[in-house]
Amino acid sequence: MLKMKVAMVGCGNIGADLCIALQKGDLPAELVALYDIDEERAKLLNRSFQLNAEVCSLEEAVAKADFVIECAVAGAVKDVVDAAIGAHIDCLIMSVSGLMAHPELFEEARNNNIQIRIPSGALCGLDGIRSAMEAGLHSVTLTTRKPPKGLAGAPYLVENGIDLESITEPKVVFEGNALEAAAAFPANVNVAGALSIVGIGPIETKVRIIADPRATENSHEVCAEGAFGRLQTTTTNMPSPRNVKSSYLASLSAVAELRAAANAYLSYCAECGAKRQG
Ligand SMILES: NC(=O)c1ccc[n+]([C@@H]2O[C@H](COP(=O)([O-])OP(=O)(O)OC[C@H]3O[C@@H](n4cnc5c(N)ncnc54)[C@H](O)[C@@H]3O)[C@@H](O)[C@H]2O)c1
Repeated sequence: MLKMKVAMVGCGNIGADLCIALQKGDLPAELVALYDIDEERAKLLNRSFQLNAEVCSLEEAVAKADFVIECAVAGAVKDVVDAAIGAHIDCLIMSVSGLMAHPELFEEARNNNIQIRIPSGALCGLDGIRSAMEAGLHSVTLTTRKPPKGLAGAPYLVENGIDLESITEPKVVFEGNALEAAAAFPANVNVAGALSIVGIGPIETKVRIIADPRATENSHEVCAEGAFGRLQTTTTNMPSPRNVKSSYLASLSAVAELRAAANAYLSYCAECGAKRQG
C-alpha cells in the first residue's frame, strides 16, 4: 500500500495512541521521523513500536516527510507551522491553544498554500457550528467539567493559588473568553480553540471551567444560538488509557485527521504523480 510519510513532533500519549492506530495497518501513513524535546521519549517510542523512524531535529524531520503532526505542547506550535511552511507540507496541530497565541500563522499558511488541520478533539458539534456560521451566530459557550486532578498544574490555578485537592463540591474555577482560557489552561481547553476557530472567534466564545470532585469523566457542553436556532451538545469523555488529563476522543480525532490527510495526499499524488512542489 502506498503510504504518506509522516513526521511526529512530541512523542507522548497522543503520539503513542497514533502509533497504536498505525500498527493496525489500515491507515495509509507511516512514521518516518520523530522529534521530541526529550530525545529519550522519541527513542522509546521508536523502540516500543518498532517504527524504524529517524529520531532527529524538527527541521530534519519535516524534510523527510509529506506531513507533520504536532502533538507536543502549545509552545512548540509556531516552530512546527513555520517548519511545515518551510518544507511545503501540511500539518496537524493538536495543541490548538498554541495556535490561538499566533493567529498570524493561519494567513502565513494560506499564503504558502499549506493546510493547517485542526482536530475536533474531545468535542462534538463542530459540524453544526460551522454550518450555523453561514448565517451568523449570536453566542457560543463552552462549559468544561473535569475531575480536579485533570486540571492540576494549570497556569491559572498555580498563579492564583487555587487548591482543588480539598474541594467537596463542584467549583467554577474559570470564566472568560476562549483566548483567556487558552492562556490560563493551555493543556485542558484545546477544544475551546477548535470551537472558536470554527465559530465566532476566540474573543466572542465564552468558556466556563468547572472542577467537579464527583466527576469521573471529562465533559464538554456547547451551547450556541444564531439565525439557525439553538444548539446544545454534550460530550462525555473517557480519559485516555495513558493520561487522565486527556480524553480518549482527542486521540481518536488525531487518528481520524491523519486518515483524512493521508487519503487527500495520496489522491493528490495519484493526480500529480509526484510530491507537492513548493
Ligand atoms: N486538540 C485537543 O482536543 C487535545 C486534546 C488533548 C491534548 N491535546 C494537546 O496535545 C498535546 C500532546 O498531548 P499529550 O497528551 O500527548 O501530551 P504528553 O505530555 O503525553 O506528550 C507531549 C510530548 O511532547 C514533548 N515536548 C514537550 N515540549 C516539546 C517541544 N517544544 N518540542 C517537541 N516536543 C516537546 C514532551 O517531551 C512529551 O514527550 C498537548 O499540547 C495537549 O494539550 C489536544
